[in-house]
Formats: sequence, C-alpha cells, structure tokens
Amino acid sequence: MKTVAVAISGFGNVGRQIARMLLARRSRYRNLYGVDVRLVAVCNSRAGLRKGAGIEEVDFASLVPGSTGPAFLVEAKPDVLIEAGPSDFETGSPGLAYLRTLLAMGCDGVVVSKGALVHSGPPLRRLAAATGARLRISGATAAALPTIDVLETGLLGCRVLGLEGVLNATTNYLLNAMMERGIGFPEALREAQAGGFAESEPSRDIEGWDTACKLLILANFGLDLDLGMKDVSVSGIGGVTLDDIGRWREEGTVPRLVGRIEFREDGPKAEVALRTYPLDDPFAHIAGKAKALRIHTDCMGEILTMGGGPEPTATASAALKDFELLLATPR
Ligand SMILES: NC(=O)c1ccc[n+]([C@@H]2O[C@H](COP(=O)([O-])OP(=O)(O)OC[C@H]3O[C@@H](n4cnc5c(N)ncnc54)[C@H](OP(=O)(O)O)[C@@H]3O)[C@@H](O)[C@H]2O)c1
Repeated sequence: MKTVAVAISGFGNVGRQIARMLLARRSRYRNLYGVDVRLVAVCNSRAGLRKGAGIEEVDFASLVPGSTGPAFLVEAKPDVLIEAGPSDFETGSPGLAYLRTLLAMGCDGVVVSKGALVHSGPPLRRLAAATGARLRISGATAAALPTIDVLETGLLGCRVLGLEGVLNATTNYLLNAMMERGIGFPEALREAQAGGFAESEPSRDIEGWDTACKLLILANFGLDLDLGMKDVSVSGIGGVTLDDIGRWREEGTVPRLVGRIEFREDGPKAEVALRTYPLDDPFAHIAGKAKALRIHTDCMGEILTMGGGPEPTATASAALKDFELLLATPR
C-alpha cells in the first residue's frame, strides 16, 4: 500500500487537533483511498519530533527541544506539509519559510495560517505550479465555511461579478451582542474576552485586519487577482457607539463587518468596512460566531454560504478536507 507522509509545522491548538483527527481517520484513508497515512514529523517554535514509522498521540508529549524549522521537516521527506503556525501577514513568518522550502521540493501544502498567503500568495502559487506541488488553503479562508472551494469548483462555468463576506467570527459575535442587548462596544468586548470569545489582544479582529487577510487570500487564490494589503481599504468596528446601536435598532437594520470585492471598470476594488443590512437580508441573520459569504455571478445568480462550527475542530476539519482532496486526486 502506498504511504503518504505528513508533516505539521505549528503544533498548537489547531496543529494538535489536526494531528489527532488525522491519526483517528487513518482507517478511512486506507479504505477510501488505499493509502497508509503516516504523521512523520511535527514541530512548534522550540521543539519537534520526527518518526519515519509514524508519530502516535502518545508521542505528542515527547517533543525534542531544538528539533524545529524547515530543514528539520525536510529530513522527514513528507509528501504533504500542513502549515498551522501563527499568522503574521506583515512578514509571512514563520509559515513562509516552511512553505517555500517544502513546496520547492514538490511537497503538497495544506495551509491553515494566513500570514504567508497574504504576504506572498501569488509567488507561492507560482512556486507550487513550477514544482508540481498542490496548495490547498481552506483553513486560512474562514475554515469550516466553504469559500475557496465554491470559487474554485462550484462556480466554474460562470463569471464572478463580486463577493461580500462576514469572515471574522469575533466581530460578528460582538456586533450581535451589542444589537441584541443594546450594550456599547467596550462592554461587549469585555464580556467576550471574559467568556473566551475574543482574544486578549483583539485589534487584528476588531480593526478589520483578519477580515482583510481572508479577503485578500480569496481574491488572489479564488479570483486570480494579484492584490496586496495596500490595495484593500480597511476599517473596523471599534468606533461603534451606543447612538449607532440605537439608530440601527430603530431603523430595523443589522451591522456587519464585511469584506467586499467589486469589479469596476477601473479594476477590482477591495474593502473591509462596517455595513448595515435590512432584516429581510440573510446577512442580518448570521448568528453568534458564524460567518457567511455571498457571491454574485453572471449566470448562476447569487450564491450564499453561511455557518461555522466549534474551534479548533472546525478549522482542523477544513484542513483535513483539503488533505482528503489531495488523496482523492493523486498526482
Ligand atoms: N484557533 C483557531 O480557532 C483558528 C481558526 C482558524 C485559523 N487559525 C489559524 O491557525 C493558526 C494556528 O492557530 P492556533 O490557535 O493553533 O495557534 P497556537 O495555539 O498559538 O499555535 C501556534 C503554533 O505555532 C508554533 N510556532 C510558532 N513559531 C513557530 C516556528 N517558527 N516554527 C514552528 N512552529 C512555530 C507555536 O509554537 P510555540 O507553542 O512553541 O510558540 C504553536 O505551536 C494561526 O495562524 C491562526 O490564525 C486558528
């Protein structure tokens, strides 16, 4: 039976969950695709483990200090790299070094972290194309919500005229809390942080940067554009006041932090901004930490996906969907 060797860079919440679920699904991979999947290497920022015969869950507690970095993973000769490190879109680090090194060897990439894709998405696509490596990125584009798959395959045969998405769960949760209970932004944020629904350092979410990252990745990977962060106009929800909340409640509208791409005569326009929706619009009904994407097309009308699941399982599942798509279409 053919062996498929997997390495994971970034062994935190998501990386470990991916590893657990990958190991638990080995019999599925054997039965459906006729392959023996082995987790041959994992690493975090300071330690890692390599085992040609396959890492088991019991080994997760035995990472070896100093065993990390792209060269460490290369030695494991993986067929697939799953990149689940931190997301730093200003430098692309640390994922960029892992992806550049492993894609250059022809290793397929399943990417969960956004940093490298935002920083160097188009060059990474070109690198993968040059070496025959496949690059799948569901985990980095709103994860459990089908976004990139819909653009890549579901809408083949039509032209995308534009899209808009509620792509950040934290801001959706905060706006819902403010609207449902008539509380102001600082109070909603304090509550969300106390309940673990918002990061202790939430600026990337509330200032719109996380949404902008996902929008850019969708633009460059799903719509074949070549945009950088400088091409996206970004604003967030930190300035929402109690007066705004009162006015929207009175008007019967609902605010959302939305990433949009429109194709205009002078080229594509990408924007992240707060927009309001009337109650008869599905975007007014995106519950809790769910997300949504609406795509406008020339021949297939308006397509909407909406939903979300508990983290980190939802993101791990999205990464393993990508992994399984690689198994389903062997090179
Ligand atoms: N958590 C979610 O629900 C979620 C949802 C969607 C997407 N994501 C994305 O998934 C990624 C991982 O999120 P997470 O929640 O798992 O974060 P996390 O728990 O902080 O894990 C990040 C991991 O990356 C490791 N790392 C840092 N620098 C590294 C390096 N140079 N080489 C190898 N590993 C390195 C960290 O190691 P140390 O522990 O040694 O620092 C840690 O193991 C992020 O990019 C995030 O944006 C997360």
